[in-house]
Amino acid sequence: MALDPEKIPRHVAIIMDGNGRWAKQRGMPRIRGHQVGADSVRAVLKACRKFGVDYLTLYAFSSENWVRPKAEIRGLMTLLRKFLREQAFELHDNEVRLRVIGHKEDLPDAVRAELDRVIEETAHYQKGTLLLALSYGSRVEITDAVRAIAEKVRCGELAPDTITEQTVAGHLYAPDVPDPDLLIRTSGEYRISNFLLWQCSYSELYVTPVLWPDFREAEFEAALVNYQGRHRRFGGIQ
Ligand code: IPE
Ligand code: IPE
Ligand code: MG
Repeated sequence: MALDPEKIPRHVAIIMDGNGRWAKQRGMPRIRGHQVGADSVRAVLKACRKFGVDYLTLYAFSSENWVRPKAEIRGLMTLLRKFLREQAFELHDNEVRLRVIGHKEDLPDAVRAELDRVIEETAHYQKGTLLLALSYGSRVEITDAVRAIAEKVRCGELAPDTITEQTVAGHLYAPDVPDPDLLIRTSGEYRISNFLLWQCSYSELYVTPVLWPDFREAEFEAALVNYQGRHRRFGGIQ
């Protein structure tokens, strides 16, 4: 089935899962799965430009992933730096802005420096936005929002009875970004794993057994086609 250009999701969020299993199936170290997974990131980013998806949010490292073995975390951080160095050109060429959601300060200095550089250099681009969720956890994000709101109440800037859903949404990490229309999870796991709990209230969910290193343009297009067959009701009856 062909894609309907009128019904392209504006924001796609992806839980990129299955790198370790992909490597294990091939008798390779887990890091190899992450390396090949980085090529999938490139492919999907390119596909977003091709199909006209404005926002792409990728769950790259969760606040819970810090419990993994130190060597794997180190490998992931090295890979992230490499990805940023290599991908920066592509972001410039396509005028795509990079943003980060999550506790960026938890990341090693060298990674943070690279991130800050690319974020700053691409801040003015408006053709698309890549959001990397790094040291990100949705419960932490909501807790941070609650804290910021509580602080405003304490200072007398805000009255508790004026707090609305918009107030909460407005204190999340990327308040100006529309909620994801489509949430994809690879590797066949039917769970959210602490990703965008607030923002995905009405996102369409798409779970594929394909492992992340094998998820390329064709798989992304299949997800979009599937999304276009959905009937979004937002609580209504139409
Ligand atoms: C996803 O792949 C990448 C990250 C969470 C960083 P995994 O590393 O979780 O791969 P599996 O789930 O063990 O196969
Ligand atoms: C979710 O994958 C986090 C990322 C993709 C960064 P995990 O592999 O960490 O999730 P669980 O542990 O299977 O829920
Ligand atoms: Mg996993």
